[in-house]
Amino acid sequence: MSGCCMCTVVKRLLFGLGVGPTIVELDHLASGAPDIQAVLFHLLQESSSSSSSEGGGVPAVFVGGKYLGGIETLMACHINGSLVPLLKDAGALWL
Ligand SMILES: *[C@@H]1O[C@H](CO)[C@@H](O)[C@H](O)[C@H]1NC(C)=O
Repeated sequence: MSGCCMCTVVKRLLFGLGVGPTIVELDHLASGAPDIQAVLFHLLQESSSSSSSEGGGVPAVFVGGKYLGGIETLMACHINGSLVPLLKDAGALWL
């Protein structure tokens, strides 16, 4: 969502790491946003992490086509050092 500050935090973190993420802003999509949001809700329910505090499934971070999680999962991976290897494996980061 374009006005969502947690989404901005995620974008800044990824850009800061040197990743050029594909950004999908649901509120700027001409069509298909309800479908995407339905999928995100589904992924949220399936993910084992307790991400109930995250708002409506956004931001939802995908790495290499796989759903990673929301900001909490992203931050946890960033802090424990598993994020960069993950991005490298996905070909999102070269250095
Ligand atoms: C880092 O944290 C993530 C998210 O909690 C977890 O899935 C992953 O297994 C952790 N990796 C390491 C190396 O601890």
